[in-house]
Amino acid sequence: MTNAPVSPSLFQPARLGDLHLPNRLVMAPMTRNRAAADGTPEPIMATYYAQRATAGLIIAEASTPNAVGQTYPNITAIHSGKHVVGWRRVTEAVAASGGRMFLQLQHGGRVGHPGTSGLTPLAPSRVPLPDTIHTPTGPQPAVVPVAMTTAQIRTTIADFAAAARNAMDAGFAGVEVHAANGYLLHQFLARNTNHRTDGYGGEVAHRTRFVVEVVRAVADAIGPAHVGVRIAPGLTVNGIEEGDTEQIYPVLLDALGKVGPAYLHVVFADPDQPLFQDIRRRWTGTLIANPVLGWGSPLPPDGGRAAAERLLAAGADLIALGRPFLANPDLVERLRTGAAINQVKDHGLMYTGGTAGYTDYPTLATAAPAHRRVPEPTTP
Ligand SMILES: Cc1cc2nc3c(=O)[nH]c(=O)nc-3n(C[C@H](O)[C@H](O)[C@H](O)COP(=O)(O)O)c2cc1C
Repeated sequence: MTNAPVSPSLFQPARLGDLHLPNRLVMAPMTRNRAAADGTPEPIMATYYAQRATAGLIIAEASTPNAVGQTYPNITAIHSGKHVVGWRRVTEAVAASGGRMFLQLQHGGRVGHPGTSGLTPLAPSRVPLPDTIHTPTGPQPAVVPVAMTTAQIRTTIADFAAAARNAMDAGFAGVEVHAANGYLLHQFLARNTNHRTDGYGGEVAHRTRFVVEVVRAVADAIGPAHVGVRIAPGLTVNGIEEGDTEQIYPVLLDALGKVGPAYLHVVFADPDQPLFQDIRRRWTGTLIANPVLGWGSPLPPDGGRAAAERLLAAGADLIALGRPFLANPDLVERLRTGAAINQVKDHGLMYTGGTAGYTDYPTLATAAPAHRRVPEPTTP
């Protein structure tokens, strides 16, 4: 007789810190550039997130903790009273629809431009992004960033802590520290963007230090039960080449484990990858996994359910999906019933203003009857 553990269903409730989640599906953070130029969330964002409130948890889009951390035009921010007021409208609308939200905190580091923020970006070292960056006047070549002084490192850590307090004031249940996808924290982790020779560069214990200090400061500010951390081991977006992925993440996870955040969130998690299996073994807390659905390709017809269930079977506790939630406000219901899913209708509308491609995706209740049909079971 085997005693293999039975993995939970996607539709079973879970606990996260002091939150009760009605299901294990998490809406992944997605920048949609619908904020005002100063980073204040627009009222339309309350509608968009409230439409998706049946997610077990929503992780709201990357929001900058200070002015110099701004990546692109019209992204959201959380470093002023105005930002707090704008976000409060969003969290109240989501709570009124029965949902719960964390807010992702993202400092762009070298992924930023004076044409957008008015400031020269800060980074671990003077290594520019090998690409153009979208600005209000269109794509511009990246500039050489300023290598952060120790004082600037301290100020940035304090800005993350203050932004986390602002997020709690705005009604979020917690914040996710963005250490993935090639932004500032990932730039500290990677060899090709961190050439520092002080205590924040060089050996792995030094390159992981900034991330750990940010997470610790945020946890001290709002309590570790309200903090998550997003990582993307080995991901090469935004010109990142970590160099020693297998060494970085064990050291980072052991240090983060001592801080004890509510969850770790792994981007493009692959249950067959030894690194993912190692992360699951090392991380004793809640693990959110964001499966690989094929970047830029159409969504799988099952909306990602099979990929999600494979990750649950491999030990993930919660599953984050991005584009499936973008195109399907009622994704949980569609996955539960096997109903057909909406595809992303126009990739050109992902990062633009307005309601088109944002709040106008149909639910099963509003769709034409043909789209509501549950697929017939296949007979052998
Ligand atoms: C429009 C869009 C915006 C995104 N913005 C963010 C972001 O703000 N922060 C982040 O960590 N990831 C961001 N991502 C990545 C998603 O969180 C997710 O990792 C990715 O879309 C893969 O998941 P999926 O295949 O389920 O969409 C974004 C993705 C998309 C499509």
